[in-house]
Amino acid sequence: MRIVEVGLRDGLQNEAVPVPTEVKLRFIENLIAAGLTELEVASFVSPTRVPQMADADSLWPQLPKGPRFLALVPNARGWARAQAVGVEEIAVFTAASETFVQRNINATIAESLTHFAEFTRSPGLKRVRGYVSTAFECPFEGRIAPGKVVEVANQLIALGCTEISLGDTIGVATPNEVRALIRELKASFGGQPDQIFWHFHDTNGTAIANVAACLEAGDWAGFDASAAGLGGCPFAPGAAGNLATEDLVYFLDRQGLPTSVDLGRLAQASMEVLAVLGRSVASKAQSAALARSR
Ligand code: HMG
Ligand code: MG
Repeated sequence: MRIVEVGLRDGLQNEAVPVPTEVKLRFIENLIAAGLTELEVASFVSPTRVPQMADADSLWPQLPKGPRFLALVPNARGWARAQAVGVEEIAVFTAASETFVQRNINATIAESLTHFAEFTRSPGLKRVRGYVSTAFECPFEGRIAPGKVVEVANQLIALGCTEISLGDTIGVATPNEVRALIRELKASFGGQPDQIFWHFHDTNGTAIANVAACLEAGDWAGFDASAAGLGGCPFAPGAAGNLATEDLVYFLDRQGLPTSVDLGRLAQASMEVLAVLGRSVASKAQSAALARSR
């Protein structure tokens, strides 16, 4: 089961305390030392709208060699910036609800897809992830029909996305809703199940239950998670942290799906960043791992 660590992007984008590039680089090194191999670390978005991601252009050339790094790219201007610093693995992002897409990226769903089509098949791109946010509920429109989610996922696949990440942006889904979406995927997703990642936020403490529901019902590419459970989208009121990578790693390991991640080292890496942000530990698995290492 692959884990995409989104702590540097989703985890930090909502934090008010500015995190210097050197601190991000050390966090990245620590996460890699803990065994994480795929990390989403930057966004080439408007620096005024997401100040924490303003250092994407200077961060990228300083990344260590070896792991796979992803960056969010919202439009052709973002792609030009990303291309200039050698980004080869990108994520485009839209949603299953019009109001959220408007608030998030100032476009309709259709316009967002038109913008992505300008660069998703560019030579040199090795990976194009397509996010479908509000895959269960929108903070402005309420419940979202699974059929709409799969329709947008299929449109992203048609644009050349090599994988899809389905986002419970505000962290409200429960296993029965996950099963309903899986039924719809099985009925009408045009790609393969192993192109699907699940991206749960843990606002209501249901993220791990949702992971369990996914594992029972298919062979997916994997899960997104954020070290220490940091995260949230600045344009989705009510969104809290992502599923903590610590919680996911503990759960997968104990379920007989071993990861390559050293939980103790991961918990320490998270601790350093929590200290910078002035936040306390929220993940139970992080807390337990820290207690074991004392
Ligand atoms: P826009 O259409 O130009 O309109 O940008 P705007 O009013 O939203 O932004 C305008 C400003 O952005 C202008 O600058 C543009 O020049 C500039 P200003 O005049 O204010 O100085 N601009 C850019 N600057 C740098 N790089 C660019 C770029 N494009 C325009 N590429 C845009 C549209 C999408 C860029 C803007 O709305 C934006 O940056 N939005 C932020 C989106 C974002 O980062 N959201 C959080 C990530 S999504 C998420 O968290 C969900 C996810 O985790 C999955 C889930 O949980 O569901 C992925
Ligand atoms: Mg998210």
